[in-house]
Amino acid sequence: QSGYITLDPGFKNTGATKSAITFLDGEQGILHYRGYPIEQLAEKSTFLEVAYLLIYGVLPTKDVLEKFRSDIRKQMMIHEDMKNFFVGFPSKSHPMGQLSCLVGALSAFYPESLNPNATEEEDNKTIINLIAKMPTIVSWIQKKSLGQPVVYPKNNYGYIENFLNMIFGEVTGETNFDPVVISAMHKLLILHADHEQNCSTSTVRIVGSSNANLYASISAGINALWGPLHGGANQAVIEMLEAIKNDGGDAEKYLAKAKDKNDPFRLMGFGHRVYKNFDPRAKIIKKACDDILERLGVQDPVLDIAKKLEEAALNDQYFIDRKLYPNVDFYSGIIYRALGFESDMFTVLFALGRLPGWIAQWKEMRDNKEPIGRPRQVYVGETKRDYANFDKR
Ligand code: SDX
Repeated sequence: QSGYITLDPGFKNTGATKSAITFLDGEQGILHYRGYPIEQLAEKSTFLEVAYLLIYGVLPTKDVLEKFRSDIRKQMMIHEDMKNFFVGFPSKSHPMGQLSCLVGALSAFYPESLNPNATEEEDNKTIINLIAKMPTIVSWIQKKSLGQPVVYPKNNYGYIENFLNMIFGEVTGETNFDPVVISAMHKLLILHADHEQNCSTSTVRIVGSSNANLYASISAGINALWGPLHGGANQAVIEMLEAIKNDGGDAEKYLAKAKDKNDPFRLMGFGHRVYKNFDPRAKIIKKACDDILERLGVQDPVLDIAKKLEEAALNDQYFIDRKLYPNVDFYSGIIYRALGFESDMFTVLFALGRLPGWIAQWKEMRDNKEPIGRPRQVYVGETKRDYANFDKR
C-alpha cells in the first residue's frame, strides 16, 4: 500500500471489470458461457452458435442462427490485395506474427471500422466481417508456409467445413470431411472460445478502451496470446513432449527439472492462474484425444508421454502443494497434430477459437461505456536531481 495505490503485479487480486459473459470457479473447476456449462456446449452446440451466445448473450433461434451463418458465409472471402502481405513475409515467419499483422490490416480495407461512434448495426457488420475472414486468413497462412496454392471459401460449405477445406481440401481432394473431424474442430474451438479476463482478453479490452477499432484491439489480443506462458503454451507442450520422447521418454527427469528453481524449464500445459483444480476444458480435450486418435488410427507416442507426465505430476508433492493441474493447452496440440496441423499453427487455432470471446468482451466493454484503462504505479525510482553536463557524469 502507498497512499491510495494498491500494488497488485499481474492483477492476481484485481477485478478489472464487471462482466456477464463467462463464469469461472477456479477451486471447483467450473466454466460457464452466459450460464451454460462448457460440458453441455462442447457436447451439444456448434462453434458459430456459441459465438452468437457469447457475443449477443442468448442461444439463437434456428432462423437467427441461420441468418448469422449466412451473413458470415457471404463475407469469408478476403480482399485479393491482402495477398501482397503474404508475399512480404519470410516463408517460415511465425504464423501468430502474420495473423496479428493481417487482422490489424483489415481496418485498411474496411475503414468504416475506424468510426469510434459507429452504431450497433455498423459494429455488428464489423464483427461479422472479422468472424468470417479469420478462417480464411488462418488457412492462407498455413498454405503460404507450405508453399501450396490458397483455397477459396465456398458458399455451400459450413464454417468448419470451409475452414477444413481451405486448409486441407486442395491436398486431400476431399470435399466431405469425416464427421468426427468436424465435430472435433467444433469442440476444440468451443472450448477455447472465452475465459473471462485472461491476459489476451484483458489486452483486447484495454486497447479497445481507448476507442481503438475492433481489428486493432483483436490484433493486440493475438500478440498477447502468442506468449508461451499463455496461448503459445499449446505449441510449447508439443515441443516439450517431443524433447522428452527424443531424450528417452524419462518423465521423472523433466519433472525434476520443472521443480528445480535454478532450471528455467517449466512443465508447459500445467498450472493456471485461476484453476486450482482440473481445468474442465483439459478433461474434455483429454477424452477427445483418445476418441479422435483411435478413430483416425493415429498412434502418437507423445500421447503416452503426456499421460505419464500427468500421472507423475499429480502424485508429486511440489505440484500438489502448488495445485498445478493440466490446463487447456496440455492435450490440445496432440489432437491438432493428429488432424494434420503444423505445430506452429496451434496457437493460431487457439486464436480462431478465442475470437468470439474477445469480440464479446470488447463489445461488452464498449456497450457499458467503460473508461479508458489507465492503471497507476508505485514509483521506486530516483528522487529529483538536476541535469549533469558531460564533465559531471
Ligand atoms: C492459458 O488466464 C487464462 O485463463 C489463460 C487460459 C485462457 O483460456 O485464456 O486458460 C489459457 O494461458 C493456460 C496457461 C498456459 N500456460 C502454460 O501452460 C505455461 C506453464 N504454466 C505456467 O507458466 C503458470 O502456471 C501460469 C503462467 C499458467 C500461471 O502462472 P501464475 O499464476 O503467475 O503462477 P506462478 O508462476 O506464480 O506459479 C506459482 C508457483 C511458482 O512456484 P513457487 O515460486 O511458489 O515455488 O507454481 C510454480 C511456480 O514456479 N509453477 C510451475 C508451473 N506453473 C507454476 N512450476 C513448474 N511448472 C509449471 N508449469
